[in-house]
Amino acid sequence: MTHEERFTLEGLQALVIGGGSGIGRAIAVGLADAGADVHVAGRRPEMLAQSCALIQSHGAESRAFCVDAADLQALEQLRADVIGSVGLPDVLVNAQGVMRLKAAEEYDEADYDRIMDTNAKSVWFASTRFGSAMLERGSGCIIGIASLASFRGFARNGIYCMSKHAVRALTETLASEWAARGVRVNAIAPGFFMTDLNKDSMTDERKQRAMSRIPMGRFGELDELVGAAVFLASPAARYVTGVTLAVDGGFLAAGM
Ligand SMILES: NC(=O)c1ccc[n+]([C@@H]2O[C@H](COP(=O)([O-])OP(=O)(O)OC[C@H]3O[C@@H](n4cnc5c(N)ncnc54)[C@H](OP(=O)(O)O)[C@@H]3O)[C@@H](O)[C@H]2O)c1
Repeated sequence: MTHEERFTLEGLQALVIGGGSGIGRAIAVGLADAGADVHVAGRRPEMLAQSCALIQSHGAESRAFCVDAADLQALEQLRADVIGSVGLPDVLVNAQGVMRLKAAEEYDEADYDRIMDTNAKSVWFASTRFGSAMLERGSGCIIGIASLASFRGFARNGIYCMSKHAVRALTETLASEWAARGVRVNAIAPGFFMTDLNKDSMTDERKQRAMSRIPMGRFGELDELVGAAVFLASPAARYVTGVTLAVDGGFLAAGM
């Protein structure tokens, strides 16, 4: 296999849930640059339309699918719509996620349901609904967006941490269950990246505390996540399944 063949996504169809903004959008454009046609899904049509235009400007086909991925029926409809219009994706990226910082004792049931339904339940059902069709075909690649919170606890972010531990757990479980049937399941654990998810909720003090624990001494730039996604989706990773790949400036490696 040549170097180009190892890393090309030429001829592949990708679907990025949460591709309308932030990390999902950056990964969607990066997959397009590597040769895939990339479709995006999320709740806000105007954000999806912007992502589609950006992806198309990079020379790839792109369609938008409006969906609340926390709603199982809507996910079933998404699967039917995607398969009916662009075919079963070769690559599914689950980049949907929400976060709410609160003292543990102040979270209410609505907070719990919103965070767990978006970050854990929707990732499970998107992975298994698209995954079952990939299993029938005998090929596919699923990439979750986990977090440092998949490995550590973070004060005032308890339910998010639970939900992201679940992403890592489902990655390892589905990878083990499907490895011999042609479907690989991996995740990326981004460190700190300033996006709509956290830019308003991270106080200066919280940012400084985070920064002091990052050996590289800075937050990440969205483009720095793209290589990991292209690698995991590409033939170069054909023997890689079940990993949660940290892209974190050394955060998880550091003891102090
Ligand atoms: N930023 C970081 O430092 C960081 C670090 C680690 C992990 N992450 C994870 O990275 C992923 C992307 O987050 P981000 O930082 O890029 O923030 P973001 O820009 O807020 O992205 C979150 C995306 O999820 C989509 N989404 C939320 N709820 C949804 C639902 N019910 N159905 C469908 N789509 C939904 C949003 O689109 P709509 O609102 O239009 O639905 C949005 O595009 C999340 O899973 C997050 O937990 C982020």
